[in-house]
Amino acid sequence: MIIPDSFFVIGNWKTNPASHPEALVLAKNTLGSPGKGVKVVVCPPSLFFGGVSGALPPTIARGVQNIITEPGTSSFTGGVSASQAVSAGARYVIVGHSSRRAAGETDHDVNLKIRACRENDIIPIVCVGEKARDEKGEYINELKIQIESSFAGFEKQDFEHIIIAYEPLWAIGAAAQREATPTEAQEIRILIEKTIDDMTGNIPLGRITTVYGGSVSTPDEVAAYAAIGMRGVLVGRISLDAKKFNALVVGANNL
Ligand code: PGA
Repeated sequence: MIIPDSFFVIGNWKTNPASHPEALVLAKNTLGSPGKGVKVVVCPPSLFFGGVSGALPPTIARGVQNIITEPGTSSFTGGVSASQAVSAGARYVIVGHSSRRAAGETDHDVNLKIRACRENDIIPIVCVGEKARDEKGEYINELKIQIESSFAGFEKQDFEHIIIAYEPLWAIGAAAQREATPTEAQEIRILIEKTIDDMTGNIPLGRITTVYGGSVSTPDEVAAYAAIGMRGVLVGRISLDAKKFNALVVGANNL
């Protein structure tokens, strides 16, 4: 279960760094002193998971970057299942990241993966985000469909164990135009919470944990997203620079 009012700083290392020794150095340099109410999660590449887990300070939680839709053992070559992730020590998993969606993952797959997480008591960090913003506001429909399909069939209690990451595609990674402004992020946080409230019926305030991801790089941005009700940040590139990532954790500690 997610502790109410906690604030997350989640590092998504993607396919980095280049080698296992470099991953161990990065893990050792990643700060292990989250303050009260702050939760730091690091999601290394699965192949480096064991080593990185051993090198990370115990105050940092571990996550994986993807799971397959089948919850347990299967014949899916190259897959990692929810139960395997849990067994290796992961408490979180990124689900539906735009890289996976670009590789063909559908909202239905995302839905099955969330289900696998719930069955195995691992917290999914479910990414949703529009490809681009248009003046007519079509992106709102795109997002609504993603949210409704990804979370179809879940009940309000499930959202005590789910993190939703708003990650607009135009704000993510090396090709990002810019980060979303707090106002833009707030609009979507409200959309996410309202859509889930409509689906589940009267969900109490604070039960939905929404974080922002996309070009987050400074403690000031962490404070700005927190100020508009985001409950954390999902960080890609900056999580590969331990000093800068640690500064984000300090920023979260100071909220
Ligand atoms: P970024 O990546 O921080 O490098 O933009 C975020 C993400 O894709 O999770």
